[in-house]
Amino acid sequence: MKTKLIAPSLLSADFGNLQRDIEMLNISQADWLHIDVMDGRFVPNISFGFPVMKTIQQHAKKFVDVHLMIVEPEKYVEEFINHGADLVSVHYEACTHLHRTINLIQSKGAKAGVVLNPSTPALMLEDIIKEVDLVLLMSVNPGFGGQKFIENTYKKIAETKDMILSNNSTALIEVDGGVNLDNAAKLFEAGADVLVAGNAVFGSEDPARTIELLKI
Ligand code: DX5
Ligand code: ZN
Repeated sequence: MKTKLIAPSLLSADFGNLQRDIEMLNISQADWLHIDVMDGRFVPNISFGFPVMKTIQQHAKKFVDVHLMIVEPEKYVEEFINHGADLVSVHYEACTHLHRTINLIQSKGAKAGVVLNPSTPALMLEDIIKEVDLVLLMSVNPGFGGQKFIENTYKKIAETKDMILSNNSTALIEVDGGVNLDNAAKLFEAGADVLVAGNAVFGSEDPARTIELLKI
């Protein structure tokens, strides 16, 4: 997987015109589609589930990056993979048996990511870093789009990068929440490989152009 990737979050798309927005992303410079699944239990919000995943699967031509903000994600990972997920990320805070869940995702043919909330230290991943394909660092508290970026994320990217290098891990670093045209270049420079952007893309006048600008 190459780095400096942009993953627009469909949470900020127009759900009345979901096919149109996915087709816009298909022909844009977006690398991945970021799909935020919320259950109203792990996070104080509910987004969408399999019926919407079906539409995404029908129309998306890009790599599908599913971010599960749900309790007991192990119960649903296989179904998300059957609905077209290329990568499934589960929260460290939601997994009692994280190692087993990561292995389950990979055994079903998808890449496996682990997500850290802003208050969870990077070092909690020391014993799993070699197994995962991606570390997703939350730079806002999960649950909503359009929140303010938490500055401590830069330090966490550096710590995660050190851990990856010292363990010979191939994991990518993805950053999610409050990413915009003002901080994207700095985040890539700090060591991020993939940036999620919801509001910055869909709240702009020209989403395709914003995706291009986020890569510069
Ligand atoms: C937040 C989600 C994010 C969100 C990002 O819980 O995980 O992916 O959609 O939205 P912005 O880029 O608007 O902060
Ligand atoms: Zn997300």
